[in-house]
Amino acid sequence: MAKVHVFDHPLIQHKLTYIRKSDTGTKEFRELVNELATLMAFEITRDLPTKEITIQTPVCEAKSRILEGKKLGIVPILRAGIGMVDGIIKLIPAAKVGHVGLFRDPETLKPVEYYVKLPSDVAEREFIVVDPMLATGGTAVEAINSMKKRGAVNIKFMCLVAAPEGVEVLTEAHPDVDVYIAALDEKLNEHGYIVPGLGDAGDRLFGTK
Ligand code: URA
Repeated sequence: MAKVHVFDHPLIQHKLTYIRKSDTGTKEFRELVNELATLMAFEITRDLPTKEITIQTPVCEAKSRILEGKKLGIVPILRAGIGMVDGIIKLIPAAKVGHVGLFRDPETLKPVEYYVKLPSDVAEREFIVVDPMLATGGTAVEAINSMKKRGAVNIKFMCLVAAPEGVEVLTEAHPDVDVYIAALDEKLNEHGYIVPGLGDAGDRLFGTK
């Protein structure tokens, strides 16, 4: 069964408050989303394997640890997920970046993929799929389906704000995918917005409306 981690770090909570506020403008919103992504990536990479090497300090020879070289991949769900990529790459510069784009079919209301590009060694990478919002869960489920279809086996999902409905749908569809959330909100409203949420993450990141 998937594990669901809700971060309670004070810095994460503080920055979240500011992205929720409706008077936070695009520039500040974008900066805060990236900072939140960095802080969350710090927590999410806690279990990365390390190995001991021998180094020379100015004082003596010493044994010290470095990352064991696990292959990581970041996959933003277009378009709002793009707002989290730089913040993660800052911390993990060797990670490769894939993209998944989906649109909602106006008749079936189901998400349909229109763009998928992943690193070629997909089966060997540990992926972090990112989207600021996990609302109904439909898009996240379909994005991960698209990745699994192409051979991805090791996937985590990271979002800033989630609705309980979305968490349930995602964890039921993909019990092997652990979910990392900065805030678990109350519910979805009748328009599919998370309550209290932060509005449309894509519009607030890119200044569109
Ligand atoms: N997508 C958003 O950007 N915001 C929501 O509240 C729900 C889905």
